[in-house]
Amino acid sequence: KRREEAKGVGLVDSGDATKSKIFALPDLIGKRVQFQGWVHRYRPQKTNYFLVIRDGTGFVQCILTGDCIRTTDALDLTVESTVEISGKVEKVKEGQSAPGGIEVVVDYWKIIGLAPGGDDAFEGRLRIDTDPSIRADLRHLELRGETATSVMRVRAALLRAFRDRFHARRVIEVTPPCMVQTSVEGGSTLFEFDYYGAKAYLTQSSQLYLETVLPSLGDVYCIQESFRAEKSLTRRHLSEYTHLEAELVFIKFKDLLDHIEGMICEVVDVLLADPSTAEIIHTLHPEFKPPQRPFMRLDYRDAITYLNEHDITKEDGTPHVIGDDIAEAAERKMTDQIGRPIMLIHFPKILKSFYMKALSDAPEFTESVDVLVPGVGEVVGGSMRISDLEELIAGYKREGIPMEPYYWFTDQRKYGTTEHGGYGLGVERFLAWLLKRYTVRECSLYPRWMGRATP
Ligand code: 4AD
Repeated sequence: KRREEAKGVGLVDSGDATKSKIFALPDLIGKRVQFQGWVHRYRPQKTNYFLVIRDGTGFVQCILTGDCIRTTDALDLTVESTVEISGKVEKVKEGQSAPGGIEVVVDYWKIIGLAPGGDDAFEGRLRIDTDPSIRADLRHLELRGETATSVMRVRAALLRAFRDRFHARRVIEVTPPCMVQTSVEGGSTLFEFDYYGAKAYLTQSSQLYLETVLPSLGDVYCIQESFRAEKSLTRRHLSEYTHLEAELVFIKFKDLLDHIEGMICEVVDVLLADPSTAEIIHTLHPEFKPPQRPFMRLDYRDAITYLNEHDITKEDGTPHVIGDDIAEAAERKMTDQIGRPIMLIHFPKILKSFYMKALSDAPEFTESVDVLVPGVGEVVGGSMRISDLEELIAGYKREGIPMEPYYWFTDQRKYGTTEHGGYGLGVERFLAWLLKRYTVRECSLYPRWMGRATP
């Protein structure tokens, strides 16, 4: 019967409205506005239908009454449909709350794209209990949710904040290639592909390329995708991740540590100073506190002692000895116990890549650093680089790396060598720490891991 009645109801748009995006509506109180968006929530009641509309810039509550709820569109409307809305912006009534403290009293609206109802309805496709592999298949829909949207917003703000802090330090952004013919972090995690008949790889790190422009641009950084053919499915490993890397010239190891610590703390401060990102951080990670400076600096050898004193064993149950890699579980356990960021320094040469500078008083160890944070473990890996040509050649030899493809990197040590160092920060890991996400997969737009490259 209602459908029969509704057929006769036609809404007329007076046309006289200010076109707006939702974020700007609180500045238009008292005005008639028009905007478009997706139906985020839909709550029909007897005489009022409440809609929450989202357009990517914000959320707004809309109230439909009178003829607006008598149309067939009102009967058919579903969550995730797109609609056009016209109406008057009003302050929410005393004692009520709505996004932006306003609501729109609608006098004209129409459906632009009706989303399906019934078995194919949006709400039914993604539920809390939906199997993780189905959720992964539906990442394109999950990204419409409030949590995923919040994470992506902070991600954007984080990248902006890093760029801002680099700019303040006069560190210049460059964009190195993703398709390369050398490896930085060893052959085991290289993605290889056919490049016009030659072997090429997806880059593991842009470090070597950053090093080549120190003589022309000075300190440089990049925010670039890195690729790792990780054969394990862990909470913190992706096959493709956003790698924020910097290379700084004429510095000493201490300068490198101070720089990394400064960048992390300043970026956190920038994010907390912005009310919209601060609100998300406090919602997703209520107990988050900005890290205190200086970060704890822990020598690798002291970390081994710590692990043994606290009964944190290797995966096979045996105690750690000097020279052992500290595996993910042990690293996280130690970091969680200590409960604040740690700069783990001076790793053994045998655990690290060919380019790392040795400690002058203990040449089996390196001027290297991993920054470990609670909940995640390693978020940054960095080091001072070998500045001496002969030492670099010895490094290639030690790691069994053929020198020829690295000729352009070797040239840096020939033509005006310098002390320099740098680091790489995993953007998804940093976000997982900041926003207390269980896995880095939640912090990537379309995460890739072993077996997953869709959507
Ligand atoms: O420690 P890594 O392998 O260091 C390098 O690649 C250096 N060449 C960087 C440099 O000095 N310019 O990686 C650096 C950071 C890690 O600390 C981690 O945060 C992140 O990159 N990372 C990953 N993040 C997600 N998934 C993976 N598979 C990652 N591998 C490394």
